[in-house]
Amino acid sequence: MRDGTEYYLRNATSRDAGLIATWLEDPRDCRMAIGHAPLTDRDFQGWLEAEDQRCWILDGPDGPLGYGEIWVDETARDLELAHLMVSPKHRNQGLGRLLTALLFERGRQYGFPSVFMRIYPENAPALNCYASAGFTRVSDRTSDMGPQWVWLAKFYDGAHCV
Ligand SMILES: CC(C)(COP(=O)(O)OP(=O)(O)OC[C@H]1O[C@@H](n2cnc3c(N)ncnc32)[C@H](O)[C@@H]1OP(=O)(O)O)[C@@H](O)C(=O)NCCC(=O)NCCS
Repeated sequence: MRDGTEYYLRNATSRDAGLIATWLEDPRDCRMAIGHAPLTDRDFQGWLEAEDQRCWILDGPDGPLGYGEIWVDETARDLELAHLMVSPKHRNQGLGRLLTALLFERGRQYGFPSVFMRIYPENAPALNCYASAGFTRVSDRTSDMGPQWVWLAKFYDGAHCV
């Protein structure tokens, strides 16, 4: 089990675009992560520039290992973690769980009660990873993004889903 001491989040920049695209070269992985394939520089630039998204790299002793975003909904007063990915050669070593946990902790600063995640039902690695990080299914989450998602949530300080 990684204790996280050698791993930390830093802000993503446009210089990370090329490396991150190599992590989603498998078209299925890419569709599972972002809904289409391939990931383009324009996609990535759009993420960096979105006012309500914060883009994070999981860095480790040997360089970048993962990526994920915190989407901030000031109106609903909740967060969503999105576009999580781990470098293919580093998967299944606990880094996805660590990335999820670090993003959740980073989100605490907003003072909102809940963090959501939206996953394709066939993405078993992601569902297992987020369950392992303490996220549980919620059935009453409505969305204008379509009905095809499994929604997971985790709550700060004993808050409950509303
Ligand atoms: C989803 C993803 C981020 C998981 O990262 P990871 O570093 O491989 O995950 P971890 O090693 O931390 O695994 C965490 C848990 O998930 C399980 N898991 C990981 N890969 C799995 C797989 N291929 N099949 C089934 N379970 C898997 C692990 O067994 C572990 O469970 P445990 O804690 O009960 O032992 C990674 O597979 C990925 O980048 N996928 C491509 C992009 C993608 O689909 N992103 C998700 C968008 S919602």
